[in-house]
Amino acid sequence: MKNKKYIRTLILLISCVAFSSCESYVEEQYATPMQECDPDISFANMIKPIIDNNCVSCHNGSQFPDLRTYQGVSVNSEIVKEQVINRTMPIGGVLSNEEINLIKCWVENGSLNN
Ligand code: HEC
Repeated sequence: MKNKKYIRTLILLISCVAFSSCESYVEEQYATPMQECDPDISFANMIKPIIDNNCVSCHNGSQFPDLRTYQGVSVNSEIVKEQVINRTMPIGGVLSNEEINLIKCWVENGSLNN
């Protein structure tokens, strides 16, 4: 009888530790401070070079979406943002966190032709 109670307490204790460590892990992941969005991110100076260097080799009219021009990027900006944030794109390449954040912020700023 005594043994059973001991085991139950032990299980309770272990699951407590397991759950709380799991929780703090999740919190840590989400707590990574997202960089503030700079309202002045320029398409011409900052976004176009990233797209030209990492995307246009494929997205040059033969592969949807066509990312050669501002027009092409801006009308597809939501899926561009999604694909770079989840790192599906670029295929065969990699963007830095800073580049991903620039694209994300430029889209959230309204995909301006600036
Ligand atoms: C090596 C070639 C290649 C490169 C480089 C590349 N892509 Fe793609 N991309 C593809 C192919 C192929 C598809 C369609 C097949 C698929 O969805 O996997 C695609 C699909 C997409 C789509 C459409 C997804 C949808 O919902 O239909 C978007 C948006 C996209 N790419 C954005 C980008 C961006 C932004 C970059 C650069 C950061 C990039 N791609 C770089 C080959 C490439």
